[in-house]
Amino acid sequence: MPELSIAEVLKNYPLAVELKDRAFTLRPMVAEDGPALLAFAGELPPHDIMFMRRDITKQAGIDQWVRDLESGHIHSVLAEDEFGVVGYSTIHLNDLEWSAHVAEMRVTTADRARGLGLGRLLTREAFNIALSLGIEKVVARMTTDQTGARALFHELGFQNEALLKDHVKDRDGARHDLLLMACEVQSFLSTRNAYGVVN
Ligand SMILES: CC(C)(COP(=O)(O)OP(=O)(O)OC[C@H]1O[C@@H](n2cnc3c(N)ncnc32)[C@H](O)[C@@H]1OP(=O)(O)O)[C@@H](O)C(=O)NCCC(=O)NCCS
Repeated sequence: MPELSIAEVLKNYPLAVELKDRAFTLRPMVAEDGPALLAFAGELPPHDIMFMRRDITKQAGIDQWVRDLESGHIHSVLAEDEFGVVGYSTIHLNDLEWSAHVAEMRVTTADRARGLGLGRLLTREAFNIALSLGIEKVVARMTTDQTGARALFHELGFQNEALLKDHVKDRDGARHDLLLMACEVQSFLSTRNAYGVVN
């Protein structure tokens, strides 16, 4: 059984944090965040959004995200600074009965907020949510040239589990290898404080 229910985890928000003298607020995403997320996605480097599940630079992609959120298929935590959304992490549940203990995580931060520890913090929030949902294993997908993401996940205890050759095509038609990394939820949270501490 999960240690805390999802309702109990959500009581921790909004969470005010200071990272390298910059103030951020973390909170669960709601349907009304659609326009702010569209603006956030529009500023991301194209390579960072190339292999997303949906194109969140388009209204249709944001609408699908909101529908998935409302159906409980995904759970997203947003980070904001004084100018708007600067990052998110998302836990995607899957429909496969034989794989219900596995969820996919996505985490993305804005250029202006990178290198401050926000990606690490958003990942921890995603794991707290995963734990409350009974998820045992979290996977993340990225192209092999996403060096920042690989370094972050490796530092957090993720292991490489699969490499799919030429699996992603970018908007110019070039192919990229896709790396699947994975981490057990319990081992992640046992090496990190679940609440109250940034690291
Ligand atoms: C991956 C990503 C979320 C990291 O966000 P971030 O806010 O810059 O990450 P953090 O500041 O929390 O970094 C934590 C640690 O990860 C490692 N790291 C992060 N970015 C790195 C980079 N570009 N190069 C090397 N190490 C990096 C470092 O160990 C860092 O710790 P340190 O700064 O104390 O040395 C961000 O680069 C991003 O949005 N990338 C595009 C989307 C993506 O690929 N997402 C992953 C797939 S789901």
